[in-house]
Amino acid sequence: MNLVKICFYFILQFVLPLLLEKLDSEMQSSKRDALETLTVCCATYGANELQDSLSDVVTSLRREVLEPVSEAVEMAALDTIKALALTLARSVMPPGGRDLLYMFLEDMVAECMPTLTTGEAKCLLSASLLLQAMGKACCRACVHVLTASVPILVKRFNDSKQAVERCTLIDALRNLSLCCQGFTEDQEGEESPLHHHIDTLLELAGAAVSDTHSQLRQAGIALLIALASLPGVLSGEQLRLAVCHLSQLIQDPVSQCSVSAVDGCAALASLHSTLLIRHCLPPLTAQLHKDAECQLAMKSLARLCLHPDIVRHVVPELLDHLCTATTVADVVVTCGHLHDIVSQSKQCPESLSYLYSTLLLRLLSHAVHTATAYGGDRVSDDSDGDASIIWHDSTVIGAVSRLLAAISSFAEAKYVEVLLPGLLSLFLDGDGKLLANGMLECPFQPLQPNSPWQQTQLTALLAACIGCLQRKVAVPEWERLLSYLVKLTLTSEHTPTVTSGATCIAALVNKEPPGPRLDVLLKDILKNLDENLSVDRQHGCRLHALKLLLWVTKAVVLRYHLTAPEFVNKLLLLLGDTELGVDAADGFHLLVTESSFLLGPAANADIRLLYRQRLYTEHAACLLIGANADGDRRSNSLQALAHLLAALPRQALVAELPTLSPHLLSWMAEPHVAVQAAAVALLLVALEHSPKPLEPQVASFLTCLLPLTRSPSMSVRIAALKCLAAITCFPPYLLLPHWMIVQHALAAALDDKKRLVRREAIEARGRWFLLGSPGR
Ligand SMILES: *[C@@H]1O[C@H](CO)[C@@H](O)[C@H](O)[C@H]1NC(C)=O
Ligand SMILES: *[C@@H]1O[C@H](CO)[C@@H](O)[C@H](O)[C@H]1NC(C)=O
Ligand SMILES: *[C@@H]1O[C@H](CO)[C@@H](O)[C@H](O)[C@H]1NC(C)=O
Repeated sequence: MNLVKICFYFILQFVLPLLLEKLDSEMQSSKRDALETLTVCCATYGANELQDSLSDVVTSLRREVLEPVSEAVEMAALDTIKALALTLARSVMPPGGRDLLYMFLEDMVAECMPTLTTGEAKCLLSASLLLQAMGKACCRACVHVLTASVPILVKRFNDSKQAVERCTLIDALRNLSLCCQGFTEDQEGEESPLHHHIDTLLELAGAAVSDTHSQLRQAGIALLIALASLPGVLSGEQLRLAVCHLSQLIQDPVSQCSVSAVDGCAALASLHSTLLIRHCLPPLTAQLHKDAECQLAMKSLARLCLHPDIVRHVVPELLDHLCTATTVADVVVTCGHLHDIVSQSKQCPESLSYLYSTLLLRLLSHAVHTATAYGGDRVSDDSDGDASIIWHDSTVIGAVSRLLAAISSFAEAKYVEVLLPGLLSLFLDGDGKLLANGMLECPFQPLQPNSPWQQTQLTALLAACIGCLQRKVAVPEWERLLSYLVKLTLTSEHTPTVTSGATCIAALVNKEPPGPRLDVLLKDILKNLDENLSVDRQHGCRLHALKLLLWVTKAVVLRYHLTAPEFVNKLLLLLGDTELGVDAADGFHLLVTESSFLLGPAANADIRLLYRQRLYTEHAACLLIGANADGDRRSNSLQALAHLLAALPRQALVAELPTLSPHLLSWMAEPHVAVQAAAVALLLVALEHSPKPLEPQVASFLTCLLPLTRSPSMSVRIAALKCLAAITCFPPYLLLPHWMIVQHALAAALDDKKRLVRREAIEARGRWFLLGSPGR
């Protein structure tokens, strides 16, 4: 090993001069190479080996940083400086020998001094980066650099009148303070390199945050946060003062800094949660009761919830606000903030378990109490003026269910399993012992079709609580629950209840492992659907049955269940139905779009890769036959096909081109926007991948495309213009006869009120102008 080192040492004697030579070159890339090699040399060799060339190296490095030519070289030089300082610090000083690190630091600091005292902002930045590079190397360097630079920077800050310069100075002080990050915690008992400068820096930060200049305030906040986030640097009292400063800034919307102050406090949340709870939360929660400040206060409170203790303080306040809100909008906004808290807590099991066992239960309790307070005969519409009445609003129920779904989807299985039996006896048997004050004023029977809608619509909450769980969690009383839900969905006349019931069934079907229980259920659903979909039933009944069909179809299609084709075929049959055809066709959109809520990836649903392609491959032939039939079936099949095509990836579309291209012209002439959109999108793919077969029909394509540039749908206009641009790949002699009329249409599109459309028009016009020009 030593032999190798010695060997390299001899080489080093030749390498160093070479590297120095390269450093003097004009080529930035070779300079950078040299610096990177030098950094490695510093890490490999000791100070003794480098000693001879040291002063030359230092001169070059200094030049690259203080008179920077390229940023990459400057950064590389900073790395080398750090590596060099570290090597010098590690070197063992021979008795009576020179302290190489000290000399190196002295030399560099002396070089930076004039810039620190008077240099302009740009040079100041370079000098401060150089000092930081040395300061980060080791504790001794850090002390040296801070001692030399902090007083000078502070004095210059005191003397300076220019806000921009003062900001740079604060930034420099902040960056220098952060250099001692590694040197505070490990060495117990030793004081931090910052120790002697803390008072000065805090005073300066205090002055900056109360300045009138907003950028300076921001810089001051950043300095305060940096100091407070260094462990063991500030005393308890200093920390308290820093947090109080920030808290002042948060409360004062006029300061324009409340957002950065909140972000700053959020950064301190895990280190100093107790201080934040004591000093930041009380003023903010007080603002919740003042209309003008409430919105901002809620937002700030939610942002600070990055520690379980803070979550425990903030959530009850927001809950109280939620339960006493008097407008739908207020409920929705508050739910949104609580939702943010839930998302922020994703990684924190302690917060999640609190949110699950407290927030979820209290929301449920409140919803159930407001629904039963007016249960049965006591339902009346003139009881407004009561805060609880808005909890009957479907928008409120929607917002609350999204929140419950988010909590449930993150919750750990062990907490869910404790709560589920109580939840199910609440919904199945009206047993309220799960709820905060178990007593219910009226019987609660949300799954009984003849219960008041205020109760049945809470099916949405049940769906949120059990439809998003992790797949391994078993739902108790599964069979009884599903038979209640199917009955409710097929007999209720309240549409939101039906939708919630259908989504809940779908979510459970999607997650149920294969087995007889699932097979029996699906068979039962199919039988019931047949009955309620039969043409002699009333329109409303059939429509609700269709809703269930759609959601269950989605559930089985997503997971490739064996019965999926059977469900899809039922849907395909309905495309020819005079009453339901249009809704059935639109349902294909539901099948292929990603749900944001239940049955989406966030809800832990079972979603197979490529399920859309599979759906298409299995059923396109049938849809194509329908698309060539007459009347309703034709237009509905086209619509359904259009939805499927729009969801296919481009690769899959290319593979389908030979089958689909012959139909393009007739589809583009269809009156339905979705069909037009799908046809134009397909044409674009065809033009880009295999235009040749389309050439003979160029005139017909143009005749169809030009009117579509005036379509009411922006996406159709854009796609049509893209096609007009792409079609210029045809030979010019085919296109030139149509030049005038295309220019006419494009001129109109250039005046479109949408910028994105105008952009495509410009592109298309450019391509048409170049037609037949040389080089094409
Ligand atoms: C900067 O000003 C503050 C108060 O204005 C003062 O306490 C401090 O001593 C000054 N520092 C320097 C280095 O001049
Ligand atoms: C301080 O550090 C930040 C980020 O690391 C950097 O963008 C900024 O230029 C530095 N400013 C000074 C004056 O050192
Ligand atoms: C749907 O069918 C079920 C039985 O399968 C029946 O109980 C229910 O009343 C029907 N729904 C409507 C709205 O007629």
